[in-house]
Amino acid sequence: MTEPRRRRVTLMVGRVESIAAAICLTVFAGGLIAMSCTLSSNEASQNGLKVTRSFPSGHHHADAASPKDGDPDHSLGGAKELVVASMNIAACQPSQSAPPGWNESNSTAALRGILLGLDADVIALQECPGGARWARDHFPGYNVLGATYSHADQVILLVRDGLKSPSAPSGERAVTGLPAVIAELELGSRNSLLVASVHLEPFERGDRKRQSQMRSLLDIADSKSSPILILGDTNMRDTEDEAMEDELGLQDIWKLAGQRDESRFTWDTMDHRNEIEGVFNRYYGSGTRQYQRRYDRMYFHGANKAKMEGKPTFELIANHPMTSNLDFLSDHFGMTSRFSLSFLSE
Ligand SMILES: *[C@@H]1O[C@H](CO)[C@@H](O)[C@H](O)[C@H]1NC(C)=O
Ligand SMILES: *[C@@H]1O[C@H](CO)[C@@H](O)[C@H](O)[C@H]1NC(C)=O
Repeated sequence: MTEPRRRRVTLMVGRVESIAAAICLTVFAGGLIAMSCTLSSNEASQNGLKVTRSFPSGHHHADAASPKDGDPDHSLGGAKELVVASMNIAACQPSQSAPPGWNESNSTAALRGILLGLDADVIALQECPGGARWARDHFPGYNVLGATYSHADQVILLVRDGLKSPSAPSGERAVTGLPAVIAELELGSRNSLLVASVHLEPFERGDRKRQSQMRSLLDIADSKSSPILILGDTNMRDTEDEAMEDELGLQDIWKLAGQRDESRFTWDTMDHRNEIEGVFNRYYGSGTRQYQRRYDRMYFHGANKAKMEGKPTFELIANHPMTSNLDFLSDHFGMTSRFSLSFLSE
C-alpha cells in the first residue's frame, strides 16, 4: 500500500456565520496501541456541524470583548495562534515527599487540574499510566489522538475538542519504532501543521539514538512538506543543542522565547531551600539525586512553509510545590507556550 491509510476529521468552527477554519486531523501513531484513536462513539454519532468554539483562539477569554473579536478566524495576516503544553507526568505516582493518604488519584487530579486549567489547544503527555482510554477519562474537552509506549509508560497526544469525527472507520499509520504520536492539524483550508508528543531515548549515551529519532520525525514532516512542532521529554543534554539546531535546523522555543533562567530547567532536583521561598523537589525522598537539566523541549521546524510570528512565550508548569516545599507532582516540570504561526503563501 503506497498511500498511508489515514483518518481525516473535519472540524467546523465557531460562530454561526463565520466559516472560520476547517480543521482536519490526520493522525499517525508510533507503535503498538497506536490509535485506537479515538473519538468516542457518542462523539462519532453526532452529526452535522459541531459548533463549539472558534479555533485556535477560543482560549482567549480575555480577548472576548477585544477588537479582534470581529475577526471570525482571529487571524492576523494569516497568523494562527496556538497554546500548547507538554509534561512528563511520572505515571501520576506520588512523590516520596507526599503526605500519607496522598495516592495516585490525588496526583492525577492535581495534574489534570493544572493541565486543563491551561486551556491549551494541544497537550502532549509522557509517562502516562494508561493509554487512550485513561486519557479520555481524565481530559474532557479533548480528543485523544493516540497513545503509544516508550521506554517508560505511554506517550499521548491530545487536541482540543471541537472536532467532528468521520463516520468512516479510521485508518492510521504506524511510525515504526518511534516513541511518538504525531498528528496533522489543518489550520484553515491550505495550512497544516504536524504536532508530535515524544519521549525520546533516555540516558546520556542515548544521544545518537535521540538524533536519529528526531531525524525520523523530520523525515515524516519533509515527506509531507509540513512544518512540525515536537513537544516532549527529549532526554536531551545541552551538548545536543548544536546537532538539533545546526544540523537538523530545529528552532528551540525556549530560546526563541528569550531563554530565561526561570524557565530553563524542566528537571530541577536541587535543594533551593536556602533561597528566599526556596523549594526542593525531593521526588525520590532521601534518594533524590540533586541536579538540573533541560530534558523537556519544544522544537519547531518550519519547512519554509511557516514561521513563528514575533516572540513565543515559554513557561514552566507544575513547578510549584503541593503540600510542603518538598512535595511536587512529578520529577519533571511541564511547559507551555503560546505562539503565532504565519504561513507563507505559495
Ligand atoms: C486525596 O484525595 C481524597 C479524595 O479523593 C481526599 O479525601 C484526601 O484528603 C486526599 N489526600 C490528601 C493527602 O490530600
Ligand atoms: C486513593 O485514596 C482514596 C481515599 O482517599 C481512595 O478512594 C482511592 O481509591 C485511592 N486511589 C488509589 C489509586 O489508590
